[in-house]
Amino acid sequence: MRVLSGIQPSGQLHLGNYFGSIRPNLELQSKAGQSFFFVADLHSLTSLKDPAALRQARADIVLDYLACGFDPEMSIIFFQSDVPEHAELSWILSTVTPMGLLERAVSYKEKVEKGITASVGLFTYPVLMAADILLYSADIVPVGKDQKQHVEIARDIAGKFNHAFGDTFTVPEPKIRAEVAVIPGTDGQKMSKSYGNTIPLFVDENVIQKAIMGIVTDSKGVEAPKDPETCTIFKLHSLFLSKKEQEALASQYREGGLGYGDAKKKLFSVFMDHFAPLRKKREQLQGKPDYVKEVIRAGTAKAKMVASTKMNEVKKAVGLS
Ligand code: ADP
Ligand code: TRP
Repeated sequence: MRVLSGIQPSGQLHLGNYFGSIRPNLELQSKAGQSFFFVADLHSLTSLKDPAALRQARADIVLDYLACGFDPEMSIIFFQSDVPEHAELSWILSTVTPMGLLERAVSYKEKVEKGITASVGLFTYPVLMAADILLYSADIVPVGKDQKQHVEIARDIAGKFNHAFGDTFTVPEPKIRAEVAVIPGTDGQKMSKSYGNTIPLFVDENVIQKAIMGIVTDSKGVEAPKDPETCTIFKLHSLFLSKKEQEALASQYREGGLGYGDAKKKLFSVFMDHFAPLRKKREQLQGKPDYVKEVIRAGTAKAKMVASTKMNEVKKAVGLS
């Protein structure tokens, strides 16, 4: 089984990324025959037009991945832009991709509504993502719910290509963990870098505390019974708890007596306990730039081998060799 996932270097890693993408990937890393985790830096050019910020984000995200537990012995870690086959395959795939397929992409419309320029690159974003997936013959693509449609588009594109040119690509499956499908942000909407509602993992403790204390709630007083199902603090806290612990906390909410201020403090404490070892590991990695460079060099070399073999197959299939 081959697992593959990418993350855009477009800002600081947050709780939504961790539980929606990194954690499920980590679990798969140990089970998979081979896993590929890459930094989707070509994708981030569709929204980020600041070279210094991109440079920083690219460097940060590799430290984040490694600190979270990606093991270079088990996983192949690399930058998308270091393997030119991604862009090359993207072009070829775009020639079998119907306009209508991309016109139905919800993420494109949402991004344009949010004010991101409607460039051709933004429109064909799912084709590049299909190339990322298909180049490595990934069977399983673990993503958050928001990326499910993109994986389905990749499946469609693989099908179109296989139909036109013969069986070339493995048709991938999205893998979404239901209980963490959408992690809410501090305002209760989906947590996202672009909504400014995140709780980042690797920033100053004060910043984390401020974000958690700023979670939006209703105005029920300490003694009032509260509904855990609609409470963002509860939903976030649950991520760190077993089913049994979740039920106990839910009862506390329903009984009343737990104020939102205290609930936030508890969440902060659980958050810091959970991430303390990762934060420490990240600090240590920061002092080992040569090690990090070597991880990327080795990862890129392995990725290139797989990608170039597949690209040769594709070229042969379409008549370019
Ligand atoms: P953002 O929305 O903050 O820009 P990305 O689009 O870079 O995050 O997402 C990186 C990965 O993290 C993707 O697999 C995505 O599905 C997952 N992810 C991001 N936000 C959430 C969330 N709020 N809940 C669950 N998964 C998420
Ligand atoms: N589009 C994904 C996101 O924003 C990132 C991504 C790019 C990706 N290529 C991928 C995820 C391939 C999984 C597989 O989160």
